[in-house]
Amino acid sequence: MERTPFAQEIIQWYQKHHRDLPWRHTLNPYQIWLSEVILQQTRVAQGLPYYQKFVEAFPTVYDLASASEQEVLRLWQGLGYYSRARNLHACAKSIVADYDGEFPKTYQELLKLKGVGVYTAAAIASFAFNETVPVVDGNVYRVLSRVFGVEDDILSTTGQKNFRKLAEQLVPEGRANVYNQAIMEFGALQCTPANPACLLCPLSTMCYAYQHGKQKDLPVKIKKGKIKDRYLHYLVIKLDDKLLMKQRPAKGIWAGLYDFYLIETNQPQKWDELDDSVLGELMQQQPRVEKSELYQHQLSHQRLHVTFYTLSLNSHLVQEPRYSDGKFYSREEIEALPKPILIDNFLRNNYS
Ligand code: ADE
Repeated sequence: MERTPFAQEIIQWYQKHHRDLPWRHTLNPYQIWLSEVILQQTRVAQGLPYYQKFVEAFPTVYDLASASEQEVLRLWQGLGYYSRARNLHACAKSIVADYDGEFPKTYQELLKLKGVGVYTAAAIASFAFNETVPVVDGNVYRVLSRVFGVEDDILSTTGQKNFRKLAEQLVPEGRANVYNQAIMEFGALQCTPANPACLLCPLSTMCYAYQHGKQKDLPVKIKKGKIKDRYLHYLVIKLDDKLLMKQRPAKGIWAGLYDFYLIETNQPQKWDELDDSVLGELMQQQPRVEKSELYQHQLSHQRLHVTFYTLSLNSHLVQEPRYSDGKFYSREEIEALPKPILIDNFLRNNYS
C-alpha cells in the first residue's frame, strides 16, 4: 500500500479504538521505561499489575536505585527472565550515579544504558520526547509484513534490516509518539496473530496479505533450535521448620533467584540412581524422605521435569549443617525471598 496514508489510517484507527492504559498518560521517561521493560516480558493484561506495583513501590528512579536487589526481584517474581530485573535495577543505579537522576533525551544516548536495546530506546525516545524513531516489536513485524507483503524471515539479520528500513520510512515526522503507540496497538487488537479482524479493518483494501489470502503465512518466522529437556531433582533440606535455600548464579535460568539444593541429570533418573556427594552426606543421617509428584515447567527453549525430595533432618543436631553455599530460612524469610514460580508453587502446595 501507499506509505503516507498508512500512518494516517493507523493513527485514525488508534484514536477510536485504543485502550486507556496508565503509561499513555505520562511523559515521564522513568515510568515509560518501566512500562516498556515490563511489557517486553508479558501481555498488557498481565503486565498492568506489575507496572502498578513498581510505580507504587518505587515512584522515582531514586527509589528504585536505592532498593535492594531482593526487593526488586521479589516484585518482578513471575515475569521470568530475571536478568532483566537485575538490568533494570543496574540501569536505575546508573541513571542516579552517572546522569544525575535524569534519563537521557535522545535515542542514541538512551541506547548506551544498561539493558536498553533498540526497542526500549525507541519507545522512550518517541513516547517521552517525541523523537522521530520507529519502534519495531512483534506487533510491528506482523502489521508491516502483512500490509506491505514483506516475506523476509523476521528472525534473520536481513529481515530485521529490511523491516527497520521500512519502519523508518513510515514514522511521521513530529507524530512518532502517537504513531508508535498506534501501530503496536493495531497489532495487538486488530491485526492479531491467529484471527486478524480483516473484515473490519480500515487497511484491508490496501493490505497485501488480505488481498492474497496470506494472513496466516505472514509474518515469516523460521523456527530454529529445538526444545531441550532438563531433569531437575531438588533436595528440600528441612531442619525443624526451616528449609535450606540458596541463591542461583547471576547467569542462566532464574538468575539471582532462590531455590533449593539442585541435582541435575541428563535423562530421567530415579531417586536410588542419583549420585551426588551432598546427598550421600545427608543420607548418612537417615532423614525421612518424601518424594513429590512430577512438576513440568515450560520455559521458552527448555522443558523442565522436576521432582522435589524433602529430607527432614533430625532436629537434635547441635549445629546447623552447611551444604554447599545454602542457608536455612524460616517460613517468613522464605516468603520474602524472590523465587522462581515453580518453587513458589511447590512451597504453596506443601508448606502453607
Ligand atoms: N507493548 C509494548 N509496549 C506497549 C505499549 N506502550 N502499549 C501497549 N502495549 C505495549
